[in-house]
Amino acid sequence: MTSPRADDSASPSFRTRITERFGIRHPILAGGLMWLSDARYVAAHVDAGTMAFLTPRSFDGLAAYRAALRDCKALTRGLPFGVNLTQSRRADANRLVPAWLDIALEEGVRHFETVGASPGPLFERIHAGGGLAIHKCAFVEHALKAEQAGADAVALVGAEAGGHPGTNELSAFTLGALALERLRVPLAIGGGIGDGRQIAAALALGADAVLMGTRFLTCEEVWAHDGYKRYLAAQPAQSSTLALRSTGHPWRVLDNATVRETRRLEADGAHRYEDFGALATGKLGRDHGYRHGDWDTGLLSMGPAIGFANAIEPVTATVERLMAQASGAARRLQSLSAPPPPANANATTT
Ligand SMILES: Cc1cc2nc3c(=O)[nH]c(=O)nc-3n(C[C@H](O)[C@H](O)[C@H](O)COP(=O)(O)O)c2cc1C
Repeated sequence: MTSPRADDSASPSFRTRITERFGIRHPILAGGLMWLSDARYVAAHVDAGTMAFLTPRSFDGLAAYRAALRDCKALTRGLPFGVNLTQSRRADANRLVPAWLDIALEEGVRHFETVGASPGPLFERIHAGGGLAIHKCAFVEHALKAEQAGADAVALVGAEAGGHPGTNELSAFTLGALALERLRVPLAIGGGIGDGRQIAAALALGADAVLMGTRFLTCEEVWAHDGYKRYLAAQPAQSSTLALRSTGHPWRVLDNATVRETRRLEADGAHRYEDFGALATGKLGRDHGYRHGDWDTGLLSMGPAIGFANAIEPVTATVERLMAQASGAARRLQSLSAPPPPANANATTT
């Protein structure tokens, strides 16, 4: 399943089961980003030596989705990239999942990030097509079930994760340490990761990769309005908040006027997604925040890792910085575990 990358001359700083199986140079997976992980963004990650996942739900119909896959294939010159297959809680929203998978397989995609309950049948279809699946979830129990159901790897996301982290309140590192006691398949951890020192820490923990989203939102290859990205680049970690807690399906987003409006509605008793009308739809954020730079309108997925993003720069530059930080942290760890000095080193001579 591993494939050679464009510039194999650049040696990897870390080799793990995930870098091997996903054919990537660095232990970084960039999770699917609704509306934003299009062909250009995904291809930029391939160039940077990482893997990102295109989100089929972002496209207006199957033909547009297939066209995006073809664009990505052309941009990546045949190197592997991924597709995100999210099964929603709402059964009617999953009608197209089999078609998304079939089209991806037809177009040569073999790496999938799956999300949602009962992924077993999806794993079977992916494996029948020669692909592999990393299943993203927020509970250790779900990770173990996914492993039993045939997941090739698991990504556990903590409460810090941008988007829909689930109702779990544990951090990525707590979940990761707990999972590693019981899980056999390779593990990625995600949520709140935006500095390379956290990548080294995840590898030291025993994880095979990290899964990141928010840290890349200010990258040049993200198509969102420049004004929006500049606003994000100025935000501290605290500007991320959990919206729609009352629904039981919280959404980690940029704290803005729309969040405040949903809280007013919650105070008046709103507690189902329907109660929030257009405010709870992703399209509002796409049309205002992403398209026009109006960061106050819409629920805009974003986690505290935004505190690490302070410039608009290409994905490659971000990844290079992350990996330099990770290597520095690994060297520090090594220096700390240096053998003790010889017994007579401290002896004083008189
Ligand atoms: C803007 C944005 C959109 C996202 N959309 C999706 C999505 O459509 N499907 C999905 O599985 N995860 C989605 N996520 C979650 C990411 O794939 C990833 O799990 C998360 O960003 C990792 O946590 P971090 O944001 O703290 O790095 C989204 C995250 C962000 C920030």
